[in-house]
Amino acid sequence: MSGHAVTASAQPLPVVADFAHLLAAAVWVGGMWVLLAKLRIDRSGFMPLLRRFSGVALLAVAALAVTGSITAVLYVRNVTYLVYTDWGYVLFAKIALVLAVVIVAAFLRRRLGTGEPGKLKRLLALDVSLMAAILLAVGVLTYLPPQPANEPLYWHQMGDKLHVTATISPNAPGVDNAFTVSVWLPKEAGDPKQVRVQLVSADRPELAPIDVPVVQFEKTGEDPTYGPLQKFSYRGQGAYLPFPGEWKLTVTVRDANDDETQAERKFRIY
Ligand code: HEM
Repeated sequence: MSGHAVTASAQPLPVVADFAHLLAAAVWVGGMWVLLAKLRIDRSGFMPLLRRFSGVALLAVAALAVTGSITAVLYVRNVTYLVYTDWGYVLFAKIALVLAVVIVAAFLRRRLGTGEPGKLKRLLALDVSLMAAILLAVGVLTYLPPQPANEPLYWHQMGDKLHVTATISPNAPGVDNAFTVSVWLPKEAGDPKQVRVQLVSADRPELAPIDVPVVQFEKTGEDPTYGPLQKFSYRGQGAYLPFPGEWKLTVTVRDANDDETQAERKFRIY
């Protein structure tokens, strides 16, 4: 009720799935703990207990995999986001550990019939270590944000004929974004006739480029920052990034001789 589950959309499903996940985790971890205690304190009846618990553990881990996968899908708006966040990578590590648990458990169940105590103990110790590693991964997961965050775009590119700086802020989909573009041109090229700022969806290339209307707000004389160049700055504002995904920002400059130079930069918003 106070973690990621409660902040996810499609309520109450995330809270219910998280509750079931925690319940199954408590059964598995609690059961393993009881087994360990039994091994240390009183070994009589350990094997029948282990046999009974092995079926319960199988069910609990299966329930953890199902409820955990539901939880993960509900926490992120798009499953491809898992490869853009630390949260996603820790989750992949956790899934790998769970697969290792399944393999160890399969060996353990085979050994239950033969009842060789030495090998059984080693497999049990491995199972407990993997469980501890999973719990560590869980501790990290709950502290990381599941969704990737949008960040302002700061872009600077130097070229032979043109230097460009562009910023988009806050650089989020469907909101009013502020665009600023500065271009540096050689003095002999004169003032630019036109600076065109366009956004192209890399995910949906069939869509026409979106023009961002910009107006000039500054012209410095000679700007010595990058050599004998003149700087011209433009700005615009509006909801020109309609949806999340990968975008390409292109800046096209038409100079006094009607020659066009273009610079482009890809970026991703969520
Ligand atoms: C394929 C298997 C699994 C998947 C896909 C999975 C997925 C998840 C996800 C997405 C979360 C939410 C993390 C967050 O709050 O940001 C979570 C939390 C958790 N998982 Fe798993 N998990 C799996 C297996 C396990 C196992 C085997 C355990 C056993 C200990 C476990 C114990 C927990 C616990 C204790 C939490 C914290 C829940 C909370 O704080 O509300 N999970 N898991």
